[in-house]
Amino acid sequence: MQVLQNRRQMAAACRSAKRPLGLVPTMGALHEGHIALVKEARKNNSTLAATIFVNPSQFGPQEDLSAYPRNLERDSALLKEEGVDLVFTPGVEEIYPPGFNTWVDVGGLGDRLEGEHRPGHFRGVATVVAKLFNIVGPDRAYFGQKDGQQSAVIRKMVRDLDLDVEVVMVPTVRDSDGLALSSRNAYLTEEQRRAAPVVYRALQLAQRLWQEGITDGSRIRSETRLVLESEGLIERIDYVSVANAETLEELDIVEGRVMVSVAVQLGKPRLIDNIILE
Ligand code: PAJ
Repeated sequence: MQVLQNRRQMAAACRSAKRPLGLVPTMGALHEGHIALVKEARKNNSTLAATIFVNPSQFGPQEDLSAYPRNLERDSALLKEEGVDLVFTPGVEEIYPPGFNTWVDVGGLGDRLEGEHRPGHFRGVATVVAKLFNIVGPDRAYFGQKDGQQSAVIRKMVRDLDLDVEVVMVPTVRDSDGLALSSRNAYLTEEQRRAAPVVYRALQLAQRLWQEGITDGSRIRSETRLVLESEGLIERIDYVSVANAETLEELDIVEGRVMVSVAVQLGKPRLIDNIILE
C-alpha cells in the first residue's frame, strides 16, 4: 500500500494503476461503516484508492473542525488490512493552496435539510469530492447511504457536470441496537449513547406505517417526530423529512423512491440518519 500526500504524485500513481479503479473518500477516524465501503470497492475493482482528508470547507465556523478525531496511523493500518492500494492523505494547503476560489454548488438540493442547518456544507463537500475525482480519476466512487443527502448531492454533481464516474451507494452500517455508526458517536456520554437508538426506532416506525399502506407524508412525518419527542435527552429536532430521494423535495403523497431522514441534537453531536422506502 502506497500512502501519498502530494496531489501530483497521487494523480501519477492513479494514471498508471490497473483499471477499473475504485475510490473511497473519507475524513478518517475510520469505523465499520467506512470499512463496508472499502470492502465493497475491493470486490469490484483492480485498484482501490482511499482518501483521508478532514475537509475544512465543509465545516461551519461553530463546528468541530479542530476537534474532529484524527488518527492517521490507525486508519492507514486498517486500510492496509483491507487491501487498499493507494491512500491519499493531503494537507490542507495541498487541496486549498493560497488564492483557491472556485466552488461547486449544486443549488437548492444542497440548501435543504442538512444544508439549512449547515450553510455552505454541501458546497464544501461537492468541491472537495470534485477535486478528489479530478486527482484520482476513478471509474467508481463509493458513498454511504448514512449520509443520504450527501450522496444525492454527489449524484447530482456527477450528472450536471458530466463526470465520468459511477457513484455506488453502500447501505448504512449500524450497531446491534440500530444506531448508525458515525465518528461523532464518540462524543456521546454513556447515557446519551443508551438513548441514541431512538433515532432508528423513529425511522422504523415510518417504514412500518408505509408498509401498512399509509402514503400521507405529513402523517408519517408527525408520527416519526412523536417517537423522537418521547426521548427526553433529545434537545432539539432539526427536521423530520419524507422526501423524494433524488430531489429531496418534501412529499404530500409518498410514492416513488422516498427518503425518510431525521436530524437531532443529542448532547454534543447532531445525529443524522435515514432510510429509503421503495
Ligand atoms: P466521512 O464522514 O468520513 O464518511 C466517508 C464515507 O463513509 C461517506 O460516504 C459516508 O456516507 C460513509 N459512512 C459513514 N458512516 C457510515 C455508516 N455507518 N454506514 C455506511 N457508510 C457510512 O462523508 C464524508 O466523510 C465527507 O463528507 C467526504 C465525502 C469524505 C468529503 O469530505
